[in-house]
Amino acid sequence: MYTVSDVIQALDLTKTFGKHTAVDHISFSVREGEIFGFLGPNGAGKTTTTRMLTGVIPPNEGTALVLGFDICRSPVLAKQGFGVVPETSNAYTDLTAWQNLMLMGDLYGIPRGRSVDRASELLRVLGLLERKDQKVQAYSKGMKQRLILAMALLHEPGLLFLDEPTSGLDVQSTQMILSLLRDLNQAGTTIFLTTHNMEEANRLCHRVGIIRAGKIVALDAPEKLKVAIDRVHRLEVSFDREVPADALAGLDGVLSANRTGDKWQITAENRDAAIRSLVTFSREHNATIVTLNTLAPSLDDAFLRLTREDHP
Ligand SMILES: Nc1ncnc2c1ncn2[C@@H]1O[C@H](COP(=O)(O)OP(=O)(O)OP(=O)(O)O)[C@@H](O)[C@H]1O
Ligand SMILES: [Mg+2]
Repeated sequence: MYTVSDVIQALDLTKTFGKHTAVDHISFSVREGEIFGFLGPNGAGKTTTTRMLTGVIPPNEGTALVLGFDICRSPVLAKQGFGVVPETSNAYTDLTAWQNLMLMGDLYGIPRGRSVDRASELLRVLGLLERKDQKVQAYSKGMKQRLILAMALLHEPGLLFLDEPTSGLDVQSTQMILSLLRDLNQAGTTIFLTTHNMEEANRLCHRVGIIRAGKIVALDAPEKLKVAIDRVHRLEVSFDREVPADALAGLDGVLSANRTGDKWQITAENRDAAIRSLVTFSREHNATIVTLNTLAPSLDDAFLRLTREDHP
């Protein structure tokens, strides 16, 4: 089931809080060199899973191998090899950004000269170099988040965990963080990222796992998830004149036809057959097709369906 190149192997990972099972026997693996997205609605168990994987809280059952180390038995060894951007800030607000970074360097036993070089470079890339001697309490949310990312990267980890790193940030901070993540990944860093932002997951992640009520309900490449979940194709068509709704809904290949404004929303099992039928239909009714759009399935759709309360 697992290979040597898996950098994270979650094995039956389970966490209960009182009677509530927040994470329910989940097993999955993250391959070396990939950006793995962990998606789920509020309260699904993303943070709890991340905290177990990073050795912050112990699981009630199961365990995880992280970089080959059992996170329950050898947390210190595992932690040497990964960096974490947690859900809530771990920076000391009464210290400056620079002091926070130097403290982080000392924690990881990095020689001071190396810490200085590395911190300067990260602050530069993240646009914080000029503000490095300011106390973190004066930082904006986006600046703070960029600093936390710099802190997570100081010891040059081969694996990076991020819990909703761009949540609530503006476009500029978001882009700065995402572009750094892409560069890091291209240089070989494996990334485990929880997010609510489907567009972000779609563009960034090689594979995504979807968690709902503590259980993984889907795990695949974004494109494959979209196709698997959305077998029904959607088309949008408009004509230059009134056409009978019944006839439209009864066309070969068409499942349903609903009117919204001056357009018809069509669902079809076979897109090609539906388009051919629509062309014939317009000719028969002396109508001209003004617009015809095929709507690609989105990760949003897949996510909403998979995390619906009544989903099996
Ligand atoms: N320390 C705790 N004590 C009690 N219950 C907790 C604790 N931490 C998490 N939970 C519960 O576990 C469940 C999962 O929470 P978790 O924070 O992992 O969700 P999440 O997917 O990260 O959600 P969000 O998107 O809101 O960050 C929730 O029902 C939450 O209330
Ligand atoms: Mg969370």
